[in-house]
Parts: sequence; structure tokens; C-alpha cells
Amino acid sequence: MHAIGIDVGGTKIAGAVVDELGTIVDERRVATPVGDTELLETTIVQMVQDLAGDGPIAAVGVAIPGFIDAAQSTVYYTPNLPWRHEPIREKLEARLALPIVIENDANAAGWAEFRFGAARLVSDMVMLTIGTGVGGAIVHDDTLFRGGFGAAAELGHLRVVPGGLPCGCGARGCIEQYGSGRALLRMAGEVADAGGVGLALAEARTRSGGILSGHDVADLISQDDPGALVALRRLGRHLGEACASLAAVLDPQMFVIGGGVAQAGESLLGPIRASFLEALPARGYHPEPEFRIAELVNDAGVVGAADLARHHFPTPGDPN
Ligand code: BGC
Ligand code: NA
Ligand code: ZN
Repeated sequence: MHAIGIDVGGTKIAGAVVDELGTIVDERRVATPVGDTELLETTIVQMVQDLAGDGPIAAVGVAIPGFIDAAQSTVYYTPNLPWRHEPIREKLEARLALPIVIENDANAAGWAEFRFGAARLVSDMVMLTIGTGVGGAIVHDDTLFRGGFGAAAELGHLRVVPGGLPCGCGARGCIEQYGSGRALLRMAGEVADAGGVGLALAEARTRSGGILSGHDVADLISQDDPGALVALRRLGRHLGEACASLAAVLDPQMFVIGGGVAQAGESLLGPIRASFLEALPARGYHPEPEFRIAELVNDAGVVGAADLARHHFPTPGDPN
């Protein structure tokens, strides 16, 4: 039976009806409403109602960019959205007559890559999503790793710079502040300020009214602009070092890099791999995991959320 996946992001909310093979049958996209949680929840409810009109739905999975409890019901905390200890599942169930489960957004994306994408042939993988924040997913022994309280794999909050920049999670020096899309914009701004190779970035910034946009930087990366590539290499260096520490703990066969910034492809993977190898403990002796760009790109969140929801509420006769 089909399932619905909803992916709540910092800038947009995506929703899709997904079949058992992970194929999207129907989809919607709206801008994330800013401000209150009430409005966010209403937007989710309307999107589910709209998508559910298409036919029988087994379950709904809602992917949320934050720390989720083990019962997959309550959002403990969203660093970049206003949810604080919110019983979202109950609230949505009260308004929708469908089985609902909530899921961390990066867990959903990682699960989709493991089931249907870049990591479908391995048993142990780590995914990093590079967007507004940095998300993480760990699949160990073909199973999504959730930890003792449900909130495992918050890899974006790995400390990489002691005493570093404050993070939305309340701590300092998290990889989210050095390896996210937002961090890339900050680093691109620094390269622009420094002059030299930053010239094209500085010009783009002037054209955009003094603030570099994600589009500006992505465009320059796709043109191999040396300044934009310097900023991307800084991002990649931090991410690669974080991956080396993760390899020491989790020993995955593959790292999958997803999220909007991963569209930079090899320009991002190259620097990640290089700094990973430099920082890898037991380098030269430890087997080297593969690094890949996510295959489902922007669809990973909705596809994974739908698939996990279908596994959570199995329907008789459905393959699992
Ligand atoms: C949140 C994660 C989320 C990631 C990507 C982080 O700030 O803590 O829960 O997966 O952003 O959205
Ligand atoms: Na996660
Ligand atoms: Zn943090």
C-alpha cells in the first residue's frame, strides 16, 4: 500500500505519496511558514489531507529537523525551528484519521539512501545531510540506529572546534557551524572580504544587495570559481575531519553526503575525502570507506519518511 512522507525543512515543506519500491507517485511543496508551531502543524495537516485524496494510505511519516523521542511521538528540540518538547504525533493524530509516526529528517534521508539509493549494497553506512543544518543518520547491521532515548545520530552537533561558534543546540563549536549550507555562506563571505580569488564572490554579493545567497554561491561553484571553491574546501575539510572521528567510532563501509550543498558533487567530495584520509586514525591500515553523493537528492526525506512509516505500521500482504 502507498504511504505518505512529509519532510519539514528550514525553508520548505515537501510531501509525497510513495509506493513500496520508494517511487514517488504524487508530490507537493510549500514554503515553511515562519513564526509559530501552530502554523507549521496546520501546513502539515493540509498537505497530508491533500495527498491522501489519491487513494488508500497505509501510514504517514513526518520527518522533522530535530531531536525526536524513542516513541517517535515527541519532538524534544529543533535547533533551527521553534518546536520545544512538542507532542507532535498526538496533535497530528487528533486532526488526521491516519496512523502517524514522526522521524528525524536526516534519519529519513539516510534510510532512503540505504534502502533505495547510494548505500543499497552495504550493511553499515553513515549519512550526513548538508543543508541549513547538518543532519546525520547511522545504519548499522541493516538497522537504523536510534540510541537509548531515540535521539542518536545527531551528527551535526559533534564538536569540532573547542570554544567555537555558538550553535542553535545551545553548545559551541558544533560541525553544524562549520559544515552546513549556512557555514558555507559565512565562509564565502570571508573569502569575498579577503579580496584576491574572492573577487567574483564579492561582485555577486554586491549584485545581491550585500548578502550572498545560496544561489550565488552554488552558481559560482558550478562555474569552478576559485574563490567559491576555496570556501567549499574549508567546509569539506571540517566535514572530512568529522568523518574520520565517525569512522573511528562506527566503522561504516560508506559515507553518503546529501542535502542541498551536496549538489556540488565531486567539488565537495574531493576535499572531504582528502581531509578524511589525513585525519583517519590508523591511516594506511584501516580499510577506507567509500564516499558518495546521495542519489535521491531532494526526495530522500519524503521517500525515507514514507518507507519508515510503512515499516512501523505494516499492512497485511505488504512486502516489508
Ligand atoms: C538538527 C537535526 C537535523 C539537522 C538537519 C540539526 O540542526 O539537530 O535534528 O537532522 O539539523 O536538518
Ligand atoms: Na539523525
Ligand atoms: Zn550544535
